[in-house]
Amino acid sequence: IDISNLRTVTDGVITIDPGYKNTGSCESAITFLEGDKGILRYRGYSIEELAEKADFLEVAYLLIFGELPTKVQNDKFHDDIKAQSVVDEDIKKILDAFPRSAHPMGVIASLTSALTAFNPSSVNVNSEEEMYKSVVKILGKFPVLVAWTLRKKQGLPLDYGDDSLGYVENILKMMFRQPNSCYIQSKILVNALDKLLILHADHEQNCSTSTVRIVGSSHAGLFASISSGISALWGPLHGGANQAVLEMLEAIKEDGGDTKKYMEKAKDKEDPFRLMGFGHRVYKNFDPRAKIIKKAADEVLESLGIKDPVLDIAKGLEKEALEDPYFVDRKLYPNVDFYSGIIYRGMGIPTDMFTVMFALGRLPGWIAQWREMRLRKEPIGRPRQIYIGATERKFVDIEDRK
Ligand code: ACO
Repeated sequence: IDISNLRTVTDGVITIDPGYKNTGSCESAITFLEGDKGILRYRGYSIEELAEKADFLEVAYLLIFGELPTKVQNDKFHDDIKAQSVVDEDIKKILDAFPRSAHPMGVIASLTSALTAFNPSSVNVNSEEEMYKSVVKILGKFPVLVAWTLRKKQGLPLDYGDDSLGYVENILKMMFRQPNSCYIQSKILVNALDKLLILHADHEQNCSTSTVRIVGSSHAGLFASISSGISALWGPLHGGANQAVLEMLEAIKEDGGDTKKYMEKAKDKEDPFRLMGFGHRVYKNFDPRAKIIKKAADEVLESLGIKDPVLDIAKGLEKEALEDPYFVDRKLYPNVDFYSGIIYRGMGIPTDMFTVMFALGRLPGWIAQWREMRLRKEPIGRPRQIYIGATERKFVDIEDRK
């Protein structure tokens, strides 16, 4: 087959692949995933090494522009982001209109979309220079929106952080004003958050990233594309799993800690319950991010002096699942979100903010994928279907219908 001819073919054979389990939607040079071996690399660098040695902003630069930044490039990138971190005061009025009970993912998706209204020049971007402006704007403003979403919910004043701090330290500062009275503790939290955000930063063509690319393929602006990605991330089968995991672990604890009972529930095909935080579309061996996070959860809780009984329940479930033929046969292992919520909770982040923290981490990945898609001048995303409805029918007047 001459593949180049397929570029123009719109009729003829249509493949159907529900859930796109075996369908590639694009070529990409950003993230490499080998599910069977548990390998994850950003731009060729292993996730283990990046989580150990890099900080989140360096990783963001790497994902978006393809290379690790030099010190000069990194400083300029950070300065450009800081210069764009102020959001319009009227955004506070929008935030005011939400009930305190609103789910933070709904709030943050709306506020991100609203950024387009306050920055109309961000809609029609074509040159690399215009793209760069949108990129630093969203990286500057999004953490402010995240912090304000949390603080508004808690009835606390909305303000900015401290420009002299690093990107991640400033995020914690904005969220908690004083992350912790003790400097040592705040360093522990900054390092843990840095690691968590790096581990979430990209994961090739997952549900939310595919959403960002497909919305962006219509040449909708970056902020609108990212707002759509946030909505896609919200669901419990995707990013919402981190909230669902903690709620599940809490429920098991309240129910007396009987993990076996919940294992049986998860295996019962009549019961819609699934073991949240288990299974992955691509990783059929182990999720390399889960390994790193499990270790980090131990370290963070220990250094903060927190003894969290749900960590023991999580470890118990993992141990049982690894020995259970149902999970072994289906290759269901803990995924990135099985342990992340335990760390977020240790940091004092409320459960319904967990998926927002995931969005904060995934932001560079969404940006990188959007930018790659635009620079490669990809066509508008427009899947086909196999029609299974009625064949042609004659119209019946309303008084003659039975
Ligand atoms: N608990 C119990 N059974 C499960 C689970 C689970 N967590 N996950 C999959 N299965 C079973 C399915 O029932 C199915 O069984 P069957 O073959 O007897 O019908 C089999 O394993 C395959 O499952 P699928 O749903 O077909 O796998 P898919 O690749 O479509 O789904 C997904 C992957 C959505 C992650 C799934 O494993 C799941 O729902 N996990 C729980 C939610 C979760 O943790 N999501 C976060 C994913 S990571 C992320 O997005 C950041």
